[in-house]
Amino acid sequence: MDQGAQAPSLAVNGYQVTQAIHVAATLGLADLLADGPRASDDLAAATGAHSDALYRLLRALASVGVFREEDGHRFALTPLGDGLRSDAPESVGGWAAFVGDPYYWQAWGALLHSVRTGENAFRHVHGTDPWTLRARDPDRSAAFDRAMTSLSRQVAAAVLVAYDFGRFETVVDVGGGNGAFLAAILAKHAAMRGVLFDQPHVVSGAGSLLEAAGVADRCEVVGGSFFDAVPRGGDAYVLKAILHDWEDADCVRILRTCRRAMADGATLLVVERELGPPNEHPDSKFSDLNMLVAPGGRERSPEEYAALLEAAGFRFLGFTPSATWAGVFAATAA
Ligand SMILES: C[S@@+](CC[C@H](N)C(=O)[O-])C[C@H]1O[C@@H](n2cnc3c(N)ncnc32)[C@H](O)[C@@H]1O
Repeated sequence: MDQGAQAPSLAVNGYQVTQAIHVAATLGLADLLADGPRASDDLAAATGAHSDALYRLLRALASVGVFREEDGHRFALTPLGDGLRSDAPESVGGWAAFVGDPYYWQAWGALLHSVRTGENAFRHVHGTDPWTLRARDPDRSAAFDRAMTSLSRQVAAAVLVAYDFGRFETVVDVGGGNGAFLAAILAKHAAMRGVLFDQPHVVSGAGSLLEAAGVADRCEVVGGSFFDAVPRGGDAYVLKAILHDWEDADCVRILRTCRRAMADGATLLVVERELGPPNEHPDSKFSDLNMLVAPGGRERSPEEYAALLEAAGFRFLGFTPSATWAGVFAATAA
């Protein structure tokens, strides 16, 4: 019998590829291959892994183009694998390490519960939301922040080409994580000042990123909750990958907190995905499922963002797409 023809496709077994890439990212294999091909035994010694099992992981990943197997059980980076290097310009390494972490994919393992009940799978499995769980676990919190930095670096350049931030004097990034997106804005606009706002345990990890980007002297760092108050004084406020984490009522609460801090006429920039039309945008449709499963939010259409913004005292100005999945929903404090 032709086993190949009978085997489930990689789309059906996609979680196996995700998990294999997660292990490669967690072991830092791409960084170890950055200077050229190495034997799997050598990589096993460097990572403390089991030689035969690591070889089997590497050859499986080579079969889907993440690495290339050469003679003598030696492996090299492919362009795909190169993107897992921690210092790759648009590294997906942080995201790959995060998304396969057992606590996170256990929540995905309860997708059926979410679909049957409409309830959030993460809370069903862990008894709490991801923000509370990570606030108690510094390693997982830092890994999540690296994943967000990874995603921000993938889209920042394209978003800054699509939308001109140059007219603003002070940009407040609300829920800005470790500051990767704000650092990119400030690096592009040398006269601009920034305020990075996020939960205290998150912004406490932002210093080295802002220093490395050369913008720390123009960026104030403030810890707090966007359900309570956000810093005043910006002429632009950014909410990037925030509203999709929350259901509508919480989004309106967050937006109203921002509105209270903003002067009339100040600009709010919601950087998110557009949900997209039926049968298209699998990245958005699966990100929407990811929101159902993990934080308990949803991806939205421009009309849905406009309705949220207007419910919170903003006038929706329009959506600017970029060459990546992220676009800018702009509004003015009415
Ligand atoms: C999906 S991440 C996006 C991070 C960043 N804006 C980016 O795009 O890379 C959501 C962010 O919301 C922050 N967050 C969650 N609850 C918060 C709260 N109550 N107050 C402030 N920030 C919060 C998290 O710490 C996290 O950094």
